[in-house]
Amino acid sequence: MLPQQGARRRGLGRALTALVFAGAVATAAPAHATPETSLQHIVPAPVAVTPRPGVSFTLGADTKIHTQPGSVEARQVGEYLAGVLRPSTGYRLPVVPGASGRHISLLLVGADPAVGAEGYQLDVTGRGAVIRARTAAGLFAGVQTFRQLLPAEVEAKTRQRGPWVVPGGRVLDYPRYAHRGAMLDVARHFFSVDEVKRYIDQIALYKVNRLHLHLTDDQGWRLEIKSWPNLTAHGGSTEVGGGPGGYYTQEQYRDLVAYAAARHITVIPEIDMPGHTNAALSSYPELNCDGVAPPLYTGIDVGFSSLCIAKDITYEFVDDVLREVAALTPGEYLHIGGDEAHATTDPDFDLFIDKVLPLVEKHGKTATGWHEFVKAGPPASAVPQFWGTKTVAPDMVAAAARGSRIVLSPATKAYLDMKYDANTKLGLSWAGYTDVQDAYDWNPGAYIEGLPADAVRGVEAPLWSETITNSAELEFLAFPRLPAIAELAWSPWSTHDWDRFKVRLAAQADRWDVLGVNYYASPQVPWRR
Ligand code: ACM
Repeated sequence: MLPQQGARRRGLGRALTALVFAGAVATAAPAHATPETSLQHIVPAPVAVTPRPGVSFTLGADTKIHTQPGSVEARQVGEYLAGVLRPSTGYRLPVVPGASGRHISLLLVGADPAVGAEGYQLDVTGRGAVIRARTAAGLFAGVQTFRQLLPAEVEAKTRQRGPWVVPGGRVLDYPRYAHRGAMLDVARHFFSVDEVKRYIDQIALYKVNRLHLHLTDDQGWRLEIKSWPNLTAHGGSTEVGGGPGGYYTQEQYRDLVAYAAARHITVIPEIDMPGHTNAALSSYPELNCDGVAPPLYTGIDVGFSSLCIAKDITYEFVDDVLREVAALTPGEYLHIGGDEAHATTDPDFDLFIDKVLPLVEKHGKTATGWHEFVKAGPPASAVPQFWGTKTVAPDMVAAAARGSRIVLSPATKAYLDMKYDANTKLGLSWAGYTDVQDAYDWNPGAYIEGLPADAVRGVEAPLWSETITNSAELEFLAFPRLPAIAELAWSPWSTHDWDRFKVRLAAQADRWDVLGVNYYASPQVPWRR
């Protein structure tokens, strides 16, 4: 996060991407033939939308939510949907096992095989709405689309008038990428459990399925580690600017992970090492090569701290931390950071990564890390997260040739903490200004020169928190760019079209207004209110 760093110069020449206008959405619903409905406003754009002109389904006081008989998971998705719809409609919306052409049905049978593991098919007729998928994750994605077909007021927490009309049609939909991520930095400024849950609810709306939590950095250690309690007692006691900081107890963290899981989002915990470790070094003198604990740090420079590569206790520490974090993590991945290790020599960095990767494996997990860790030649199973500012990245191409599949978070496109323009009060600008169109107009499958399209595992939007301290500030940076990145991660490239996207995005703001989500009213977007 250091403005003066060479590697973090402003990206020049944003890649001009070829726009393909043959998207299924565009061809299925020409504006002249069908009146515009919320079917045209879904974000992320579905694979295919087929309106049934003149047909609609209206929720009523007797509407039920039928879920796949025998499936607890389908029932949980049904309860989630009921939880969204009950406060605003005032309807009872009982969730009951069954299948019916009337009412709302969430079924795990009969979906078009094209939906795969995470997709769904949604049919709205005059009698009801049926979502079919092969998994509960697919049903959950279908529920997010269904929400967006209802009037925005359905998102209200208090009873609204309605009517609750859903346009008739069929949606067939599945994701482009398996990894559709958002990252939140809770280290530079701490965000409470409730603030993180609020963000989880927001990213779930856009079919994001990974929440990467940046849990440790120079300014704070935010997750209780029972075997090293001073990490949080001392290392969690402040933040950028000198505020009180904070941390999650393991119990609170488990609650967060479960809350995310109930929204089909897997939490990826990051313990950033060997750099970005001042909070740990300040908490335990023995982790320092000279045995002297540095003071806590509340500024925003980077690259000055390193674990002591030569000491055995460093690896006892890392082993303990990874063991406890792995035990809190149902997901496959542990993120080991590895970025900006400017206070670690290259040979030491390689040695460190070579010792730490087996520890991740020992605790039953797969490593992911910022792209610098490919210098150390990790195995192909380890996932590099690219955050560079250039489209030329031979390290990534070489890693792909060895079999790695890469998550893309190019700082010039996907970093939600970059200022929108010179007037933006929050955020940083070392990677340049990123207005909504900049965030949207790039093709993850053809972004890094020479990187095969199938070497891309997904897309993730990091939100670093040097300049933000609460949900309103977080949301101002995340919206409307998070939905733009989420669309790149979900939607087929054939649907990519800025002029259509900006209209769909504008319609989403009606929902943000009802939900109380703060956002930047970019002049690039034709807002409706
Ligand atoms: C990073 O922005 N240092 C990953």
